[in-house]
Amino acid sequence: MNNLWYKDAIIYELYIKGFKDSTSNGRGDFRGLISKLDYLKDLGIDCIWLLPIYPTPAKDDGYDIMDYYNINSDFGTINDFVKLIEESHARGLKVISELVLNHTSDLHPWFQSAKKDKSSPYFDYYVWSDTPDKYKETRIIFTDSETSNWTYCKENGLYYWHRFFYHQPDLNYDNPKVQEEMIRIVDFWLNLGLDGFRVDAVPYLFEEEGTNCENLPKTHEFVKRLRKEIDAKYTDKILLAEANQWPEDLIPYFGDGDEFHMAYNFPLMPRIFMSVKQEHHGPIVDIMQRLPKIPENCQWAIFLRNHDELSLEMVTDEERDYMYNEYAKDRQMRINKGIRRRLAPLMENDRRKIELMYCLLFTLPGTPIIYYGDEIGMGDNIYLGDRNGVRTPMQWSENKNADFSNGNPSQLYAPVSLDPEYNYNSINVDSQVNNPNSLLNFVKSIIKVRKKCNIFGIGKIDFVYPDNKKILVFIREYNDQKILCVFNLSKKSQPVELHISHLNGYIPIELFGDTVFPKIGELPYFLTLSPYGYYLFLLKKDY
Ligand code: NOJ
Repeated sequence: MNNLWYKDAIIYELYIKGFKDSTSNGRGDFRGLISKLDYLKDLGIDCIWLLPIYPTPAKDDGYDIMDYYNINSDFGTINDFVKLIEESHARGLKVISELVLNHTSDLHPWFQSAKKDKSSPYFDYYVWSDTPDKYKETRIIFTDSETSNWTYCKENGLYYWHRFFYHQPDLNYDNPKVQEEMIRIVDFWLNLGLDGFRVDAVPYLFEEEGTNCENLPKTHEFVKRLRKEIDAKYTDKILLAEANQWPEDLIPYFGDGDEFHMAYNFPLMPRIFMSVKQEHHGPIVDIMQRLPKIPENCQWAIFLRNHDELSLEMVTDEERDYMYNEYAKDRQMRINKGIRRRLAPLMENDRRKIELMYCLLFTLPGTPIIYYGDEIGMGDNIYLGDRNGVRTPMQWSENKNADFSNGNPSQLYAPVSLDPEYNYNSINVDSQVNNPNSLLNFVKSIIKVRKKCNIFGIGKIDFVYPDNKKILVFIREYNDQKILCVFNLSKKSQPVELHISHLNGYIPIELFGDTVFPKIGELPYFLTLSPYGYYLFLLKKDY
């Protein structure tokens, strides 16, 4: 079972630079993070996901790598990294980080050499063309900053291919040497003790004329090879795919259980937000029904927010307009095809809605991911450029710089939140830790509920369809254990009749309070729910 640890884990995503600064230079580092491991352990998570840790010019916050075998010196040294792994493992926490396969920084020595000399051994590490006319059917991802996937290189008079920023040239996976390099890099970090990778930008590795250059068969072949290499040497390492695709293109990344262990559920995420706004269970139920069963040894990674914009790529144009209108009226909140806001502001700081979102995150099938700071309801700063507004320093206390750093406030990599509603004086770990009613303690309690049940990661899901469409209902089941989950997606109190006579004789026990509810019988089971209310019921035969 330990090899399948990722099937029922809770992942916490964080920025080293944003978590805790131990050197007072205004940037977080490994030692700072080590000093906060007990906080994470106490929260109840199982795995830390570190955003990129490598040397970088940081024009894409570390997704522009200059050296795959080193640590960003702002964060510490390789020894500090190893120490972090040891200290995490000692607490029973796994650690995964980023594998940026698709591209490097233009400052990577491979690209520097390639662009200067066509006979360089690294020339063929990248994708070059005499004209910017190839691969015309390929979409642009960073629509707000790039107008083409080709950029002209003054040094050699050619164009190079890039799916993201112009300063992130794509690697050429048709070159077997590139594949070898990546396999070596993977081995280097796994060998140092890393438990796996969140694999960035997976669909874009290969190019082929006449296609949209996404999800090509060769990509799957490479992933299978990578997985095989890992499995040959290690037993409990994982690969988590970032493939922002529609279900039909996303599911193949699980292969026959021989590609990725996990993949983000990109189609589900925006539909959770849609369901809550529309007060209708349709968006969640429909998309879940479009997602076929995945191989036994695989798992969805489910999330509400992350370090990027809330991606609206996997929705229709109408749905995107709807989401913009409802969640990002101010244009400043929008970037590319998405919304650059954190969870609490998206929920208008309504505690009931935030709890409801967490309950959905923790009960829908998959392994939940919490984005740092969302457990205390941190706000965002939409006036910072790019996606930086959701990447501000962690708010530990009401002390100087939110206790994130002892440095000069002007030195911080980004200002701590001074927003009247979300500023660090009031929204911080210290102020929440001892208040049993704080959001932080709610998140801890839902983690406890999830762990007590041991079913949400592995059980199947069956939807119940009440006439009242404002109510979402499903049953999670594993062996003879059943949990009935009922959510009011509406801002008003709601009654609901559940047609669940097949559960006749079961007694629902509400999981947060261990409250015993009336036995289910032949007649429709009647419940009332407060605005955004929810029930998670363990169903017992006897009590
Ligand atoms: C996806 C990452 O999440 C995002 O932050 C980054 O900009 C792109 N991939 C390019 O690496």
